[in-house]
Parts: sequence; C-alpha cells; structure tokens
Amino acid sequence: MKVTPKQIETVYDQSNAVEHYLSESRRDGVKVEWEELFSRWVFKQAIAPYSKEKGEKLRVLDIGAGTGDGYLLLSTLLSEEWELGSSYDLDYLGVDISAQMVETANELYGNHSNVRFECADIRTRQLHRPFDVYLSCGVPYSHLTHDELGQALKMIAENACENRERCAVVVDVLGRYSIEWTPKWKESRWDYCMSFFESEGDAEATWMSFYSHEHLQKVMQQAADAVGCPVEKFEFFDRSIMVGRHTSTGEFNPGLPQYRDLVNSLLDPELETELRQLLFQVELGSAPEYILDFFRKFSSWWNSLVREAAALLGESLVVDPVELPPEVLH
Ligand SMILES: C[S@@+](CC[C@H](N)C(=O)[O-])C[C@H]1O[C@@H](n2cnc3c(N)ncnc32)[C@H](O)[C@@H]1O
Repeated sequence: MKVTPKQIETVYDQSNAVEHYLSESRRDGVKVEWEELFSRWVFKQAIAPYSKEKGEKLRVLDIGAGTGDGYLLLSTLLSEEWELGSSYDLDYLGVDISAQMVETANELYGNHSNVRFECADIRTRQLHRPFDVYLSCGVPYSHLTHDELGQALKMIAENACENRERCAVVVDVLGRYSIEWTPKWKESRWDYCMSFFESEGDAEATWMSFYSHEHLQKVMQQAADAVGCPVEKFEFFDRSIMVGRHTSTGEFNPGLPQYRDLVNSLLDPELETELRQLLFQVELGSAPEYILDFFRKFSSWWNSLVREAAALLGESLVVDPVELPPEVLH
C-alpha cells in the first residue's frame, strides 16, 4: 500500500484531533459508563502481577498516548485500587508522534509527579529502559501497517528480553468484524474516516489497519518468536460490541440502526428510548464461521434481554426468547 503525502499529513497535523479528544461531547454515556470502565478493567488485569514493594514504582510506557486519556484511566484505576488497599506508585511515560498531542498532554498532566509525555514514532523509537506495562488505548496501533505493527511489537519484545523482565503488553486496535463496517469485512486495511470528530473540515480519510483476534495473535506471536521472547498468555477483548461510534455516523454501513445513540439515550435519565429500536437486526458480511456464530448467539441473547425489558414496561416484542447464559445474567 502506497502512503500519499495527504495521509502522512493526517497523522502529523492533529489539531482537529486534539480538539476532538478534549471535547465534552466525546465523553458520552457509552464511553464513560461502558468503554472506560472496561478499559480500566483490562488495565487492571495488566498491572495485577506487579504488586510493588513500598517505594518501587510501576513503570508504564503508553504508546500513542494522545492527549493523555491512558494516563487518566490508569490514575483513576490506581486511586480506586488505593481505596481497596493496594498501593502503586507510578512512573509513566507517554509517547506520541504528534507534537500537538504531546504539548497538550504535558499542559494537562506534565506537572503530575513521575509523568512525562514525549514526541516519538513507535515505528522507529528505540527503548532504552524496561517497563512493566506497555500500554495503549484509543487504537494507536491501527495507524500502523500490519508489518509496522510487527516491527513495533518486536522492539517491545526485544526490550523485555534484553532486560530479562516479565511485562504486560496491551495492544489496542480496531476490530475487523465490527457491525459498523460489515461491507468492509473482506479487507484488513482501508481508508477509515473519523467523521465523528466535532470540528469542521476534519473528515479526512486515514489508512488504518483492522484485526481479528487470530490475526493479531499471529502478529504478536511472530514478533515474540523473532527475538526468542516467550509469551505466557494471550487474551483478547472487544470493548465496543454493537456500540462503536460509527453506528451513529452510518458512514460505512448506512442502514445500521444508531445503536450508540440509542444506548446513550438509555443511559440518560432525561431521555426516553423506544426499546424496539434496540433489537439487533443487522445484515452481516462475509466472515469466518466463528465470527458469524458469535453474532448469532449475541443477537439472540441481546434481543431476549430487550424483549424482557420491554415486557416489564408492558410492551410486547416479537422475539423468540432464548435461555440466557450466566455471563449475560450477572
Ligand atoms: C486515536 S488516538 C488515541 C490517543 C489516546 N491514547 C486516547 O486514548 O485518547 C491515536 C494516537 O496515536 C498516535 N500515533 C499514530 N501513529 C503513531 C506512531 N507511529 N507513533 C506514535 N504515535 C502514533 C496519534 O498521533 C494519536 O494521538
């Protein structure tokens, strides 16, 4: 894939992006009550093995740190943990390719102790000291080609191996099989558009990479194998099933119900939601059988839940009810 100057510019000129990341409306109900909660839970799994002795610090490298959302999530998590009786001191370094992002992040958090943001390109950045956790959030790795991701992960694995230290690596990417872009399911890299930005003139297409968990695991395993770094375990999670931001824009799947807006209205006590609109009615694209199977199960569970909620309000929805598994009920 040839990268044109326009595409490079989109990565480096991030003034619209900075505005978007700082805007109030970006922090909608789904982000705050579902996605951030879930991201903190993932971070918690990543830091769990590092219960530090008093005085020792949890060393974190946040890749593609942007305006510092990862730091905010992490510091919120650590203050929650503190309340629960565990204590972590933080040594945090956020890196980002965009000077505007780094400047904004430093303005916001640069005066917090042991917190720094630096301008660096993860594709070429050499790592000179060990970290316990190599963090990412907000899909920075999707800005890289598949090969560049392999290269960046190889550098991380090399760093971990050189220092003979155990570490956790959180790799946040765009999921290939999201209902927001079923017509694109056949491709794993395409010209994505962040048309949910608030400011005008920002709907530039950017080439982004999309991953199934199998593909991502393969890239991660290859990077580790290339430097002889043993991997203890892989775990995969999806933060935004059914509620990705592009369900609201309809940009890549115009017929899709605006599920994110609908769930946001559910989370807002001032608004009423027509529950029948929440039913999962999505024409899927071409995907491996296990993906289609997941959506068949997910939609039958989800629709049964919507039916039950509607019944409580005296509304009858035509849905074949199924028995819900314990993980859905709890
Ligand atoms: C969608 S933003 C996420 C920012 C932040 N982590 C968050 O959750 O809000 C992705 C970030 O990755 C950065 N990025 C893209 N390519 C990069 C590269 N090669 N090296 C470092 N950062 C990069 C972008 O500048 C952008 O700030």
